[in-house]
Amino acid sequence: MATDAGNALPRFPAGFQWGVSTSAHQIEGAADERERSVWDDFTDAPGRVKDGSTAAVACDHYHRYREDVALLAGLGVDAYRFSISWPRVNSLGGLDFYDRLVDELAAAGVRPVPTLFHWDLPSGLDWLERDTAARFADHVAVVAERLGDRVTKWITLNEPAEHTLLGHALGAHAPGRKLLFDALPVAHHQLLAHGLAVRALRAAGAADVGVANSHGPTWPASPDQPDVEAADFYDLLLNRLFADPLLLGRYPDGIAPLMPGDVEADLKVIAEPLDFYGVNYYAPTRVGAPQGSEIEFGGLTLPAELPFSVRDIEGVPVTDFGWPIVPEGLTELLTGLRERYGDRLPPIVITENGCSFEGTDDQDRIAYLDGHLRALHRAVEAGVDVRGYFVWSLMDNFEWAEGYARRFGLVHVDFATLERTPKASYRWYRDALRAQR
Ligand code: NOJ
Repeated sequence: MATDAGNALPRFPAGFQWGVSTSAHQIEGAADERERSVWDDFTDAPGRVKDGSTAAVACDHYHRYREDVALLAGLGVDAYRFSISWPRVNSLGGLDFYDRLVDELAAAGVRPVPTLFHWDLPSGLDWLERDTAARFADHVAVVAERLGDRVTKWITLNEPAEHTLLGHALGAHAPGRKLLFDALPVAHHQLLAHGLAVRALRAAGAADVGVANSHGPTWPASPDQPDVEAADFYDLLLNRLFADPLLLGRYPDGIAPLMPGDVEADLKVIAEPLDFYGVNYYAPTRVGAPQGSEIEFGGLTLPAELPFSVRDIEGVPVTDFGWPIVPEGLTELLTGLRERYGDRLPPIVITENGCSFEGTDDQDRIAYLDGHLRALHRAVEAGVDVRGYFVWSLMDNFEWAEGYARRFGLVHVDFATLERTPKASYRWYRDALRAQR
């Protein structure tokens, strides 16, 4: 891949926050030291995870967090985005772990940025039930009460779109439901949970609150009407179904009547003002009219009944996961968000961006990150207010239904010995951050 990675990156605005991200279920392990989540139930059923693995041990971060915080300190990041496992908090002494982690981060000079829900719902709870939203808000109040003296920046939910689509519509993720459009209440209840959580965080004095949504440009397969309409529908599901209620206080046309409960009243809760808007960006998607048959895409089997089909983006390199590498997609996405939401769009933080590649001399990851940071800078130059960037991920981890086969880390993890080895990309990111100071 042609790359500028040897040249210094353009300078980002003063105060820009540099970080890396992880999530609890993907790194912590110590599954027998907490209550169960829907992901434990899902991975225990045969055939769900490609390599048959589970996250019972994962990176064993629960026991090795000191070593991992030292890796963060060595990287020189300002902030660390991790997630707080709700099933761990529910178990005796579970919150003590996050207490220790937050103290360890403070001692290393790294700001904690916890996500309060990153897909590991406690077993027995269900997003089809409205009550789960209230339960989440109660849980958030407990966490904020305990950590709020040291944690000031919070993220409510991670990628509710993927959790709805993959977990409840297509069955590729936990809890493994294949409800297709009957999964829409799952979206509404997560949004309501978000709004109630924002209120709980405010009540605990939090001043810096946001959400992490996945976004990516949707490109029609051709200018023909059926392709354009199919792409528009896909764009609604990925880019507008969550952002419109959060930022505009309304659902995209035609969606509100499909949602449960008193939707108008709920939208007032959902649209609580945010201090930042987290964007997870990986790639654009090319979408066309349905082809009348199942499609294999990014490790997923998409059923024939969907009103769209996903097509290859030709002529661009791909990651080991087969995901297209299109840095310009990030500029397009951010300028597009700014155009659609205008002054309703809070400052943006890129809460995830990264790629899966094998090996520790990972020049391809360096090229990916370099290209995306340049594209991000172009968005800043075009007037988009971006305040931070977090690489997914600090270290290789349990990549959900793909198991351990996809490696997104700046740090290599040997899953037999749990040994951590910084990759070339770790050194590159460290040096890039130093040059920004
Ligand atoms: C988004 C998710 O938030 C994260 O859990 C996942 O590992 C990465 N994307 C890569 O697929």
